[in-house]
Amino acid sequence: MTKPLWIKHAAQLVTLASDVKGPRTKEAMSNLGLIEDGSLWIEDGIIQAVGTTKELEKRYSEKLHEAEIVDAKNHLVTPGLVDPHTHVVYGGSREREFEMRLEGATYMDIMNAGGGIHATTRMTREATEDELIKQTTRRLDSFLAHGVTTIEGKSGYGMNLETELKQLRVMKKLQEQHVIDIVPTFMGAHAVPPEYKGREDEFVDHLIQDMLPVVAEEKLAEFNDVFCEKGVYTPEQSERILEAGKRFGLIPKIHADEIEPYGGAELAAKIGAISAEHLLKASEAGIKAMAKSGTIACLLPATALYLREEAAAGRKMIDEGVAVAISTDCNPGSSPTTSMPLVMNLACISMRLTPAEALTAATYNAACAINRQEQVGSLEVGKQADIVLWKTKNYQELQYLFGVNHVKSVWKKGIKVV
Ligand code: NIG
Ligand code: FE
Repeated sequence: MTKPLWIKHAAQLVTLASDVKGPRTKEAMSNLGLIEDGSLWIEDGIIQAVGTTKELEKRYSEKLHEAEIVDAKNHLVTPGLVDPHTHVVYGGSREREFEMRLEGATYMDIMNAGGGIHATTRMTREATEDELIKQTTRRLDSFLAHGVTTIEGKSGYGMNLETELKQLRVMKKLQEQHVIDIVPTFMGAHAVPPEYKGREDEFVDHLIQDMLPVVAEEKLAEFNDVFCEKGVYTPEQSERILEAGKRFGLIPKIHADEIEPYGGAELAAKIGAISAEHLLKASEAGIKAMAKSGTIACLLPATALYLREEAAAGRKMIDEGVAVAISTDCNPGSSPTTSMPLVMNLACISMRLTPAEALTAATYNAACAINRQEQVGSLEVGKQADIVLWKTKNYQELQYLFGVNHVKSVWKKGIKVV
């Protein structure tokens, strides 16, 4: 039996507790369930009580002497951040492409010339499982140092069965080895593999017949994602892949309307995807359809910045009633970052989310986007004790002092890991 943990005197304890179940929309995105002079009691990695310091002091008066005490005086305490969209497992890196884009090449030019996702696919195919574990561990450590305690991870740099499975197995191993929780997504349709150029429909058949069954059989993924984009997969092909995934119990996600408006948001709503990602160019009708279907918009403002594109219409989406989550999109091409705090800053600066909305988008709504809202994303009794103690005194300051890592300490399942 480990000692109970008592975190007390938080200047602001952001619990995100609410009676609203499921992703938060509109005004509910601003309800942080804030407690001043807040306090948490943790036993066996689970939150046992949440309240003011006075309340918990009284309630646990008999046990106080047994507890390990953390005095959070003058500091902000929040749930561990959740990153619901990453491509964290990959081989190599692509700094030369960064230079090429600054010299004038576009993201799609580079990809169509065999670079971009294809370059990382080659490097990931060549990498051994051990090399991938080593590289990815470094990124997971960095996520943790930035207050992130749960991430989603996608395959998609294999685009053949062997390497897709290698990426997914690496995630499974890391889930066992590393303190971060990793929720796996199969993304075999991340690009059209060079072997299938001009034969996209054949690759879609191959993916459905030969890849999905193995991924499902080995229980290597919970979600199924596709890059629905002009020059990659059409909405029709994307629908076939995602509907087939559903038959294997994989929940659909879509990289939608990133580079050009292409009906991705509409498709996400139509097939009941749990989330649609990017949405820089989502249409008015698409946004409305997502609000109606309850599809979460997973917005990636660091990617927009990195590609020097205008960010998604986050403010408008919230006003229209779409539940918004935010993510790093951590990947070697369009967003090589592990900083969710930066992503929260950018959600405010480039999408006009309020500081409170950005925090909801990076915690509770992010957990909803990967079906983990029962375990993480808020500080409530019975949930995992995934907690961040910040150097800042309140959540407004966290979003205001930008581009800096304000993490002081992180607990994962009640154990101090940073
Ligand atoms: O979400 N848009 C497609 N996929 C990734 C980028 C992957 C890469 O460039 O390696 C994204 O931005
Ligand atoms: Fe992505």
